[in-house]
Amino acid sequence: MAQGRFITFEGGEGAGKSTQLKRLVARLQTGGREVVATREPGGSPGAEAIRDLVLNGNADRWSPVTETLLMYASRRDHIERVIRPALARGAWVVCDRFADSTRAYQGAAGGTDPALIAALETCVLEGTRPDVTLIFDLPVAVGLERAHARAGAEMRFESKGQDFHERLREAFLAIARAEPERCAVIDATGSPDEVEAKVWSAVWGLLAVHE
Ligand SMILES: Nc1ncnc2c1ncn2[C@@H]1O[C@H](COP(=O)(O)OP(=O)(O)OP(=O)(O)O)[C@@H](O)[C@H]1O
Ligand SMILES: [Mg+2]
Repeated sequence: MAQGRFITFEGGEGAGKSTQLKRLVARLQTGGREVVATREPGGSPGAEAIRDLVLNGNADRWSPVTETLLMYASRRDHIERVIRPALARGAWVVCDRFADSTRAYQGAAGGTDPALIAALETCVLEGTRPDVTLIFDLPVAVGLERAHARAGAEMRFESKGQDFHERLREAFLAIARAEPERCAVIDATGSPDEVEAKVWSAVWGLLAVHE
């Protein structure tokens, strides 16, 4: 069985990742392809328990380094139990946030040493890296407004200041510039249908680069 494809959605709060992930998964499933929709932090029972620790509570509950280690503990469990088995059986995995969120949130915006994050990527991911990453880009104020309108639990990162979110946005754009063969920036300001069309063409455009 051919190895599956690994697609990740990244970007700041309220950019429309979760909305678009459902749409992409539904489109990819037509024709009988097995598609696993998952998310981070979380995606496996152990990782979901860590998600609860990381996304709830005061903004300063964890230091950036502690948060990085929690994210990587949850990511390792998710990879071992869900992502790798799915890719090995030929499924496509579409994941709402992945390693780039750690680079952006805990690294660029949070201040964790990028060398620690790079070491964790090497030792913990061990080559389980996305084929395609879509970076959803939106002015910070628009994203936070959308996120607040939807508000509920898991507000810990949304409660960080404007500066944090501006650094985050720039960090994601920098990742896209550095790795254009993997990443596409999706202008997330349009209607859900417009964004869906951009997502579809970006996925196939980037996959074609790997063929
Ligand atoms: N293109 C769009 N135009 C307007 N509103 C949108 C659009 N896409 C999503 N929304 C709405 O914005 C809110 C945030 O969307 P969504 O939850 O998909 O974002 P997200 O990127 O997953 O956010 P988070 O990072 O906080 O998980 C939701 O209420 C959703 O219905
Ligand atoms: Mg979401």
